[in-house]
Amino acid sequence: MAQFLITAGPTREYLDDVRYLSNASSGRMGFALARAALGAGQDVHLVVGPLDAAVPKGVRVTPVISAQDMERVVRSASKEADIVIMAAAVSDFRPAFRVQGKIKRSGSGTRGGRMRLELVENPDILAGLGRRRSRKGQLLLGFALEKEKILENGREKLRAKGVDLLAVNRVDVIGKDRTRLWILDREGREEEWPELSKAAAAKRLVKLCLERWEEGRS
Ligand code: CTP
Repeated sequence: MAQFLITAGPTREYLDDVRYLSNASSGRMGFALARAALGAGQDVHLVVGPLDAAVPKGVRVTPVISAQDMERVVRSASKEADIVIMAAAVSDFRPAFRVQGKIKRSGSGTRGGRMRLELVENPDILAGLGRRRSRKGQLLLGFALEKEKILENGREKLRAKGVDLLAVNRVDVIGKDRTRLWILDREGREEEWPELSKAAAAKRLVKLCLERWEEGRS
């Protein structure tokens, strides 16, 4: 049995106590992966950003809010994980400051109907895991969302993030039930999968991860 660590959903980056930056991730792919891994008899820890959807039953769930929260939880939980799948849509940036209370329309530095928002980069959680594996033989699967040059950008991302497998989606997949994936690995293999439901794609991905993880052990 392998220990899966799977992230899902968006992250939320607060500007003040009521406003935040986020994205439209539904968490469907991450949840489908958690169900598929559980269905394959594996142990699953799901780290999930803020979502209304009910989390899959039978998996250990740790809810998080921001990218920094997710990084802390993932870094610690990855020490026990054989297979890490980063399916979360992590915000790449967060507001440089979080205002206590609520930003008022007037008196908050607005000038001529405009307001500047300063953002700072969030940690790249996946790249951090790729640089230094927290467990021997650990397999790392990342996702990428690309608008164009799917393979070219995917190859570059696989290398830059130091992952074993990369599943590349097109941007128009967000919020949909079906997906078309390109699967790249660090040995240079590339596969284009047919359009599948997220549940079917997740099953195939879990199977692939398990095969590759087993290969790495033998
Ligand atoms: N990811 C992460 N930490 C971040 C941003 C992304 O761990 N701060 C992970 C995602 O979970 C995903 C992978 O990195 O598995 C790729 O995310 P993607 O948004 O495609 O890549 P970016 O690095 O944000 O590149 P860009 O937006 O420039 O294409």
